[in-house]
Amino acid sequence: MSDDAFEAAYGRPAELAWHAPGRVNIIGEHTDYNDGFALPAALPLGVTAQVAARDDGVVQASSVQDDDAVTVPIEDLAPGSVQGWAGYVVGVIWAFREAGHHMPGLDIVVDGSVPIGSGLSSSAALECAVAGAVDDLFGLGSTPADLITVARRAENDYVGVPTGALDQSASVLCREAEALFIDFRSMDTRRVPLDLDGAGLRLLVIDTQARHQLADGEYAKRRAECARAAELLGVPMLRDIDDDELAGALERLTDPVLRRRARHIVTENARTLQTVQVLEGQGDPRAIGTLLLASHISLRDDFEVSCRELDLAVSTAMDTGAHGARMTGGGFGGSAIALVDDTDTDAVTDAVQGAFAEAQLTAPVIFAMQPARGAHRCDA
Ligand code: GLA
Repeated sequence: MSDDAFEAAYGRPAELAWHAPGRVNIIGEHTDYNDGFALPAALPLGVTAQVAARDDGVVQASSVQDDDAVTVPIEDLAPGSVQGWAGYVVGVIWAFREAGHHMPGLDIVVDGSVPIGSGLSSSAALECAVAGAVDDLFGLGSTPADLITVARRAENDYVGVPTGALDQSASVLCREAEALFIDFRSMDTRRVPLDLDGAGLRLLVIDTQARHQLADGEYAKRRAECARAAELLGVPMLRDIDDDELAGALERLTDPVLRRRARHIVTENARTLQTVQVLEGQGDPRAIGTLLLASHISLRDDFEVSCRELDLAVSTAMDTGAHGARMTGGGFGGSAIALVDDTDTDAVTDAVQGAFAEAQLTAPVIFAMQPARGAHRCDA
């Protein structure tokens, strides 16, 4: 991003800028709030936040993508007091203040390339870019874990969307050419090689254009169902049920909905561990394809968070030779991923576009990605 947007908005240059990416989740869906496992990778798309300090206790925020700018005294910030995209920005300032940091005031311009509502974590990219920039601007000395916490508080407590730690952890911690294994109980992470180029593979991201809204209650409902299933099984979290204890646990759950939810979480954790094993074993990454497809089927049938567009993207990609495909992110719309040989990229892309056209659905946006770098300072 050039200085121009900042200069145009505030009549002075930015002091510094941070970039933070959106993410895809390779596998491990809806496991984060069950203390389970996930394996995200950073997108080459993200948000850049330019900042400069003020000394009058005011935060001004504007966006290259949106004309609505905000100007608010920091001491007036309270959960939900600013709505829309700017809520995620000032939510980060609020969260730093809640953590005990003095916020003297600042001007911010954000510039994002992650499509909103695509299940690719545009909000986490926004929060993490702002968190990194604010921390750097005021020399707060935050650790990566602190940045994740502040970004999550903006999302969960300021904006009020009850997500887990997946998106912000991915946006801060991911690295180029790698996926990131996360254990959400210990918050331990491990870098997992994902050299797709070297294996002649592409990861296609299929943004179905079907838009979801995590705040609409279905996400919170899944969380509550998982918590209830764990309570009935007498464990702190569904993470505490191993794959080999699953059959016995399912017999003890009489409610068929809770049984399906629990089965997804337990099997998804097992699939995530197996995926990591394959990738770390330096075997052919194509071998994770069957695990990706099994994850999609489980999300569709047991967790019931897929939709017509996601199912069509996955089935068409599989029919055209993808090694594996699945919805990624929270679901109810958003994006799917497909693991394909690089020689099949065009064929799969064309087939998915054709299937959507035939079904009279909005044309999806499809692109190939290589895992990119997590949040970092960039040129202002
Ligand atoms: C959304 C949430 C994450 C996670 C995923 C599902 O992206 O923000 O915390 O729960 O859904 O894996």
